[in-house]
Amino acid sequence: MKKINAFSLAGIKVVILIGSILPVASAQKVPQFGKSTLKEVIGTMTLEEKARMLVGTGWLIDVPDSILRKTGGVNPFAPKPDGDTTFSSMIKKAQRMIPGAAGTTSELARLGIFPTVFANGPSGISISATRKDDKNTYHCTAFPIGTLLASTWDKELVRQVGEAYGNEELEYGVDIALGPGMNIQRNPLCGRNYEYFSEDPFVTGKIGAAIVNGIQSQGVGASVKHFAANNQETNRTTVNAVISERALREIYLEGFRIAIEESHPWTVMSSYNKINGTYTSENYDLLTKVLRNDWGFKGYVMTDWYAGLDIVSQVKAGNDLIMPGSPQQCKKIADAVKSGKLEESTLDLNIERILNIVLKSPRLSSYAFSNKPDLVTHAKIARKAAAEGMVLLKNDNSTLPLTSGIKNLALFGNGSYEVVTGGSGSGYVQEAYSISPEAGLQNAGYKSDNDISISYVNYIKQERSKKQRNYLAEIFGMRESVPEMNISSDMAEGFSKTNDAAIITICKNTGEGQDRKIDFDFNLTAQERSLIETVSSAFHAKNKKVIVVLNIGGVIETASWRSIPDAILLAWQPGQEAGNSIADIISGKVNPSGKLTITFPLSYSDVPSAKNFPSTITPPKVVYEEGIFVGYRYYNTFGIKTAYEFGYGLSYTNFKYSNLKLSATSFRDKIIVKVDIKNTGNVAGKEVVQLYLSAPANNMYKPESELKGFEKTKLLQPGESQTISFILDKRNLASFDTSITSWIAESGKYTVKIGTSSTNYKLFSSFDLNKELLVKKETKALTPAESITELKPDEKNKKP
Ligand code: BGC
Repeated sequence: MKKINAFSLAGIKVVILIGSILPVASAQKVPQFGKSTLKEVIGTMTLEEKARMLVGTGWLIDVPDSILRKTGGVNPFAPKPDGDTTFSSMIKKAQRMIPGAAGTTSELARLGIFPTVFANGPSGISISATRKDDKNTYHCTAFPIGTLLASTWDKELVRQVGEAYGNEELEYGVDIALGPGMNIQRNPLCGRNYEYFSEDPFVTGKIGAAIVNGIQSQGVGASVKHFAANNQETNRTTVNAVISERALREIYLEGFRIAIEESHPWTVMSSYNKINGTYTSENYDLLTKVLRNDWGFKGYVMTDWYAGLDIVSQVKAGNDLIMPGSPQQCKKIADAVKSGKLEESTLDLNIERILNIVLKSPRLSSYAFSNKPDLVTHAKIARKAAAEGMVLLKNDNSTLPLTSGIKNLALFGNGSYEVVTGGSGSGYVQEAYSISPEAGLQNAGYKSDNDISISYVNYIKQERSKKQRNYLAEIFGMRESVPEMNISSDMAEGFSKTNDAAIITICKNTGEGQDRKIDFDFNLTAQERSLIETVSSAFHAKNKKVIVVLNIGGVIETASWRSIPDAILLAWQPGQEAGNSIADIISGKVNPSGKLTITFPLSYSDVPSAKNFPSTITPPKVVYEEGIFVGYRYYNTFGIKTAYEFGYGLSYTNFKYSNLKLSATSFRDKIIVKVDIKNTGNVAGKEVVQLYLSAPANNMYKPESELKGFEKTKLLQPGESQTISFILDKRNLASFDTSITSWIAESGKYTVKIGTSSTNYKLFSSFDLNKELLVKKETKALTPAESITELKPDEKNKKP
């Protein structure tokens, strides 16, 4: 590691200054962070200093001159120092550290404690790409969105994305990435679903652990967020999520548990919402009983920005760091100790947890970050991951990959020219460039119709010029979508004569702060539908193919129009290399192997949480009446047909599943499951092998089956086979029994189902558990204050 660092230099300066004022003997006794024990360092702090350590240095939004001119040079987002000169100098310093970062921990130079920097994720590091009076650029790689990464079902690849991401963090001087986002995609309309992985906690936990392990392998930290049940943006800072203990443990907490146990993230970010009446950041049950006592979490918890109301409860709950922080909050903490509302020992405990992580910072050893991460190599990783996570939804008559005779493409849809690389809000990344589908297809040797291209580029420019520029919207990527241009039948017919095939890209932005709407978003707009119809009818009349590319951040309705085009490629929001990855699939350079991690329902009304989302009652409250029946657990248990089921995705080849073997017929500590997968088609490809388990329902009702294992094969050449192994342990058999606050594996027959999706099972086998097992006793916590009428698969509503 290279040495020179502003902080160590600053630290030395302060020590010299103190040394010149204090007698030499006492100066030598001042413990120093990193050299003395934390107990000694904390023991030396004054109450005011302790309070400061628990509070961040304000929101570090990088305010442009255009705003500063209006405010007389005052950053309107910075906390008011209120005469606290130490705080105001910390703010100034923090703002100079990494422009565009989200915040920092506090500095205490007297004791050698330096600030550490947070920058948003989760699809790449979010910092300002340019800096005042600096010709250099600080671009970060826009990796694919969380949902796409999960759709790769490839833990190793996601780990590699994490490594690249963590390396950018390290080289730009960021200590902790505020991500990954690990909330369950409870409802397809949640505005931030794009940041999250899945409707399923097992996929969420495994993919989350993979990315955290990748990031932290670089010697920097991650913050898994938003803990927990932050499943909607509507009223996100006030909503009370009323959830049963079982649904919490099995669905909403389980992904976090897996990631905490398998990747030990440095930090956890609590969420904005309440769970069962208490803000998560003020929730001792959640942050201490569950997170620390039950799961053994050793890092620290930070609030989401401005979350919660009562700082004293936050400190007591074990929400160690209050973000973004203000001098007023420091004062409140110190006053609470003076008035006896808070024990000073609680402050000490929280500070120790924060400083234990600060000790891991590259800043401790004065790492001289280069500001020059290898963006070229990282772009290649982004391109690979994007292609591996795209899901081929439809491919009639092998429309894709395009055959060699097809070269001239008519590219329709705004998204063909202005791709959406990621969602908006804090997760927006300032990448150096983005590759549109048009550019990507051209890079792959296709010719795009120039007349169509010019019309779209001019149209988009003209529409954009009608909108006023909004700086905040720009730095958070809140680009309003431009309505689709009207393509008349005559125009479409003309283009169908001169082109070999048509590709229509439907693009949609989504993001933080608001949920999506059913009309014009979940359902296609009238213009989008007419574009698909008009283009398809013209091209089909000439026996030419039409492909729809979905450049979207969340689930949309497909059932009413999917029969029209020949192929549908779900590209999600694929990051900066978007067009190249799309072209890789379309050309057949990459055989699609992505699978859905969230169900596409036939219509929105089929969604189990539809009647409880997002709720408009006052005070805001949402009762999770669907209980554990989220996503495929609901559709499969209650026999509801879907458009595309969880786990679904097509390939250009076929796979044969055979030779399913279990290591035993009766369960003791574990069962090893093996299955052979053979590529029986003509091109090389990868398959995602999914293991679902049906458990006996003696005292507890169970979903039809649940995902308990998944592996992606290597690239199998035609005729090549691979044996895939899974280990089922006790935990995989257990459900949460609220009456005894324990994970219980009920006795009876367990059916192993190996499938290509959650409904397409290829092989079955079973084993017995002779005696009920108490797998783990947990702490009683998070009990709802009101009774919840939860959905249950009783005889009446369970369809055969
Ligand atoms: C978001 C977090 C983000 C934080 C800091 C909040 O509004 O909910 O995900 O990390 O801001 O920017």
